[in-house]
Amino acid sequence: MKIVAMGGSLRKDSLNLKLLGHLARCLEALGPQVRSLSGDDLRIPLYDADLAAPHEAVALHAALAECQGLVIVSPEYNAGIPPHLKNAVDWVSTMTPSPFKGLPVLLASASPGAFGGARAQMQWRATLANLGAFALPGGITVPLADRNLAPDGTPGDPRTAGEIGKALKAFLDFATRMDERG
Ligand SMILES: Cc1cc2nc3c(=O)[nH]c(=O)nc-3n(C[C@H](O)[C@H](O)[C@H](O)COP(=O)(O)O)c2cc1C
Repeated sequence: MKIVAMGGSLRKDSLNLKLLGHLARCLEALGPQVRSLSGDDLRIPLYDADLAAPHEAVALHAALAECQGLVIVSPEYNAGIPPHLKNAVDWVSTMTPSPFKGLPVLLASASPGAFGGARAQMQWRATLANLGAFALPGGITVPLADRNLAPDGTPGDPRTAGEIGKALKAFLDFATRMDERG
């Protein structure tokens, strides 16, 4: 099974990028092949219908077209989706065939705040529903992430570690069943 893990902010010390690295390693330990897309992969010119699709958007479309599941690790900006991630998804949504239709998605977010990015995930759910993707009901939130994540993204507190383990297993089970249905 192929999984794409997409996200993080564009800054090099991104907490969400660290979380993405941790989730990718955990997923690979469970079996799937994980392709991580972050940083410059997502530094895409703003969507403009007058432009040809930038190469980063074409590469993201290709990666999503051949995966059986997507993990989005999203910061929360002003209770919503950060612009570079929405822009990447908007570009891919203009390409055919749509890789989002019927795609299982796991949402994850990390924030120094108390909500752990939960409000950004609510916006993601609306966007993903519009694209025909299936977001797993329970996402991963990491509150107080500046204190709770080790430099390699490993969570320090048992609640977060337990939540991550359960969510990844539920996601792989969901993606496997969706894949078997074709
Ligand atoms: C423009 C902006 C808006 C933000 N709004 C929120 C917010 O609504 N909720 C929240 O928990 N954190 C918010 N933050 C703080 C981010 O969660 C924090 O900067 C976090 O470290 C960003 O993710 P990163 O570490 O992956 O870069 C905001 C940060 C920025 C730059």
